[in-house]
Amino acid sequence: MKIRRRNIIGLLLSLMLLLCGCGEEQGTTGAIDHKTPVNDGGTIVVGVSQVGSESVWRSANSKSVQEVFTKENGYYLIFDNARQKQENQVKAIRNFISLQVDYIVFSPITEDGWETVLKEAKDAGIPVILMDRKLENKYDGLYTTWVGSDFYGEGVKAGRWLEDYLGDKTEQVNMVVLKGTKGASSMIGRTKGFQDVAKEHSNWKILEEADADYTTAKGEEEMERLLKTYPDIDVLVSQNDDMTFGALKAISAAGKSTGVGGEITVISFDAVKRALELVEKGVINLDVECNPNQGEKLAEVITRLEKKQNIEKAYYVDEMIFTPEKVGLYIKDRTY
Ligand code: AHR
Repeated sequence: MKIRRRNIIGLLLSLMLLLCGCGEEQGTTGAIDHKTPVNDGGTIVVGVSQVGSESVWRSANSKSVQEVFTKENGYYLIFDNARQKQENQVKAIRNFISLQVDYIVFSPITEDGWETVLKEAKDAGIPVILMDRKLENKYDGLYTTWVGSDFYGEGVKAGRWLEDYLGDKTEQVNMVVLKGTKGASSMIGRTKGFQDVAKEHSNWKILEEADADYTTAKGEEEMERLLKTYPDIDVLVSQNDDMTFGALKAISAAGKSTGVGGEITVISFDAVKRALELVEKGVINLDVECNPNQGEKLAEVITRLEKKQNIEKAYYVDEMIFTPEKVGLYIKDRTY
């Protein structure tokens, strides 16, 4: 593995040329600090390509990375926001390759479609570290490691909780699922995990799984449509809190109640502060945590690579589930 240390002024000049050379607007390229010292041979240059800013979770994930890859910690961060477009991520990674960064960190919007650009990074000798979302198995040789959540496990946790909650109920339970971004590993894992538990229960009926792209606007729009299509929904499984916020609006506009003692049982994912407050109020029944604080682990992995120490192919962050009974203990410490 070839690790370079770029002269930071050289890097800045290349960065400026790249940005000026492009007629169209780039994603947010952060950390362009013109006061960066010239002879800084020890600085580790990290290019981060983030999916976008579609959710509260995503902003927390970006913050966690930006807080760790700082000048004080010995890093020079080039941060790019791809605004939910794979082509922007590919462009950002190519820019990182041209700039000869030391490491590329990226959260792939979808599991597939990266062959060419990842081969380019490999040929350039730049280690690629995945954060948050995973890639299809065929890409295993094209990235160094991954830091993120067990999405399949999250889906299973949701299913197992519902199993307990419903107890020995034998009547049909009608469910709808609001799914995250098409092709994203978090959407694929959560869907499969929940489906696998659902298959064990002949009375669980998934009426529809609707794409809502992890956004509040889509969550509201799709839930409004689902409520009109299916008048007897018992359970909503919404794959992130932002979609849940939109769905709750649609449900209340339709004159229905949710949560503890309500008509529709609500299961959400992420566990951001605003959602945990709704769990405490009993509006959301369960929130399955997805931990966005991945910056520290990413830095730890880079330190190990710098020291030429062994690393694992995957690092899972810790996660739990929140129900009204115990959520109060955690709300005040939630920063996002
Ligand atoms: O990939 C993680 C998911 O992406 C989070 O659950 C969601 O909020 C985000 O947009």
